Amino acid sequence: MKVAVVYYSKSGNTKKVAEAMANELGTGAKSIKDEPELEGVDLLFVGSGCYNKKLTGNMVEFLENLKGIKRAAVFGTYLGQTSAIESMKGILEKKGIKVIDEWGCSGAFLYLMNKGRPNEKDLDRARQFANSVLEKAMDSVKEVKVDGKEQGQA
Ligand SMILES: Cc1cc2nc3c(=O)[nH]c(=O)nc-3n(C[C@H](O)[C@H](O)[C@H](O)COP(=O)(O)O)c2cc1C
Repeated sequence: MKVAVVYYSKSGNTKKVAEAMANELGTGAKSIKDEPELEGVDLLFVGSGCYNKKLTGNMVEFLENLKGIKRAAVFGTYLGQTSAIESMKGILEKKGIKVIDEWGCSGAFLYLMNKGRPNEKDLDRARQFANSVLEKAMDSVKEVKVDGKEQGQA
């Protein structure tokens, strides 16, 4: 299963989480600003910070222009609001992409709030999330094959 991890991060918190997930999954994490190549990707992890309760315009555009992706997972960092994560999920589902799961954690803000987050515990949780999503995605592929009577074929 080809997996990709992409993110948008202004101050590095979501990038940290994305890199922990990507490492765990044996891939790299790429910023959407670098226009990642997603040809043939079976499972896409997408992450963002929350900015004024919203996603940035470039993330909305990135999600709306996605092509050929069937399964995704969304994640993010925030002060307390999960609205950006919910927005990513909403856009993807509207496009008919199955969102397997969602996850988020606190992210530091201007050295004032949530100091030190994401911390090691957060990154451990991020790795667990990545593994659990991958497992669910693999199961869903098996189910499709069983339903499609491909089970047992070479
Ligand atoms: C301009 C700005 C606006 C923000 N607005 C919100 C917000 O509305 N709700 C929230 O929970 N966090 C908010 N935050 C906090 C960020 O979501 C949090 O620091 C996050 O970890 C940033 O992720 P990043 O480092 O990947 O950019 C805001 C941060 C910035 C810089």
